[in-house]
Formats: sequence, C-alpha cells, structure tokens
Amino acid sequence: MAKPIVERVREIIEKRNVDCLLFTDLSNIFYISRFKGFEGIALIVPKDGAPKLYVPKLEYERALEESKNTEVHVYEERFEKTIKEALEECKCNKVGLPYYKVSFWLISALSKNSDNIKFVDISKDIMSVRSVKTFEEINAIKKAIKITEIGFAVALESLREGIRELELAAKIEYAFKTNGSLEVAFPSIVASGTNSALPHAIASTKPIRKGELIVVDIGAKYEGYCGDLTRTLSLGSVSEKLKDIFYAVLEAQKEAIKNIRPGIKASEADSIARNVLKEYGYEKYFIHSLGHGIGVDIHEFPRLSSKSDEILKPGMVVTVEPGVYIKGLGGVRIEDDVLITESGNTILSTYPRDLII
Ligand code: GLY
Ligand code: MN
Repeated sequence: MAKPIVERVREIIEKRNVDCLLFTDLSNIFYISRFKGFEGIALIVPKDGAPKLYVPKLEYERALEESKNTEVHVYEERFEKTIKEALEECKCNKVGLPYYKVSFWLISALSKNSDNIKFVDISKDIMSVRSVKTFEEINAIKKAIKITEIGFAVALESLREGIRELELAAKIEYAFKTNGSLEVAFPSIVASGTNSALPHAIASTKPIRKGELIVVDIGAKYEGYCGDLTRTLSLGSVSEKLKDIFYAVLEAQKEAIKNIRPGIKASEADSIARNVLKEYGYEKYFIHSLGHGIGVDIHEFPRLSSKSDEILKPGMVVTVEPGVYIKGLGGVRIEDDVLITESGNTILSTYPRDLII
C-alpha cells in the first residue's frame, strides 16, 4: 500500500538533513493536513509525532473538524512570534521551507535576534512528492473532471448566437456548484473569435457570433482537487483555415498522448506535439508548453515543457494541451487530463473532442 502523504513529506526531513519542515502556504498545508485555511496558518512537520497546525481562534473549530492526524493549536499572539516560539519549543534550528511559497517578511521576522536558525529550501522536494498522486487524490481528480465535463454539456446546450462569453461561463460555473464543486480551479476561459488567440483570455462581455471558434478552458474543484479541460467549439461552420488548425492540434494531442508512459522525459512529450504542429506549419504559434501536473493547485509538477528535466512516473496526473494561436484570426486548444500508469497512461477525461463543424 502507498505511504500516507504525511510520511512521504516527512522523508524530506532526513533527505535534506533538517530538524523539521515549516509550511505557511494554504495549498501545501491543505495537501498535508486536509485543512483548508484562509490566512495566517502554519504547519510544522516534526521528525516524530503528529504535524502541528497553528490557526487563529476563529478557525479553531473548523480546523479540528477538517484536519487529519494533526495537533491543532490556537494562537493569540502575533503570527510570526507564534511560529518562532513553536520552532524553539520543538528545538528546530534547521528548518526546511518551500522558498517558492514563503514571504521574505516571515524569513526576516524569524531570523531577527536568532543566531542559530538556518533555512533550507525544500521547494523541489515537496513539488516532487506532490507530483505522484495517491489513490484518494486520483479519485478526487476524477470527480473534479466528471463535474468539469458536465460544464461542457451545459456550454453546448447553451451556445447560441449572441450569448456573451461571460454568460456562458456563468452557466458552466452554476453547473459546477450545483454538482458539488465548491470553487473553480481557475477563472473560466470562454474565448470566442479573435479572443481565442489569447491562451489565457478571461470570459468577457463579447457576444458569440456564427462562424467563430470558441475556446472553453474550465476546471471544477472537488474535495480540494482540480480538473482542467479545454474544448474548442464552433457556432455553425468555420473556415477551412480554422478547420485545418483544429485538426492539426487534435493530431498533435493524440500523438503526444499515445507516447506518454513512465520513463519518458517530460520534454520529449512536449517535442512530440511540437513536431506534429511543425509538419502543418503551425509550430511557431504553439506559444506555451504541452502541459502540467494537476492536483491541489492547477499548475503542479511535472511541467511538460522543453525546459523540463523531469521523467514521467506512474501516479502523475498531467494535462496534455497543445494549442495554436494566430493573432487576428483565432486559436485552438484541446486539453485532456492523463494519469500515468505502470504500463502507459489512462485518459481520465472522456468528453468528445471533435466539436467543430
Ligand atoms: N487551464 C489553464 C491553464 O492550464 O493554464
Ligand atoms: Mn491546463
């Protein structure tokens, strides 16, 4: 049986030769403790014994109810004073911290008048632990994907001439909430016509017109885990050029997914998709990386990018999302979520991809 998350995180202590780990960001704290904090929360993972969660008084009851296998402490002093004293109490002089999530303000406060305290960056270690999902995490992601797919069904039902991008996004998000998703994984993208050439366009008040492509990139969250899917739809038939782009992107995505398996470099998956687009002459319009891990956060390790040095492993869940974006014309992106298995991969999303006419 796979090790519990807290034990996998605790292995970083020995690996980095530190006395304890300290987390102050909400996503790592949720990942380890299952408590969904608001602000001013800290979690200390000691060498032995339960992790210690520090919360303000107003969060105490909820933290007791939600957190798993942690000792919950209320603090009434200033946040940084509480952390400093807690570290002293558990004799943690050498503290492992994820630098990518820690404020300079906190480090300065903890260092003040303390000659002994030392900090070690554990960013890569915690990202690497988080990149391989447990059975429970995979189930939560599957559920988030199911709800996200309901969003596409609603989008297709609601798509008509004149509907505004924002209105379509609102209908999708209403369906997310009514199907058990407490929040969106990221601001919903509904980008029509020339807006679709912006990979991170946010739904606007623009009315959708016949003959346009519409990139819908949406994600529900379930039990703290993200889904992330993109479909490119059309309202009525689109030009031959837009069709050509669409089928090039679809082929690039299929080819990449076909080759994703444990042991291959994340950068290789990216270059497989890029090469397909090159054959069609669209390579220079593919202006982002092929994909990313998903989990508690929408963008996690591994990155399926030409710059990545990571190797894909069973248990990773990654997006595969090639895109082509041509300013003034439009864009196409198709994105699915893929679980890397012992023998290859499983596509966790099932929604049809060919949605243009
Ligand atoms: N779905 C948004 C992104 O992956 O950037
Ligand atoms: Mn994505």
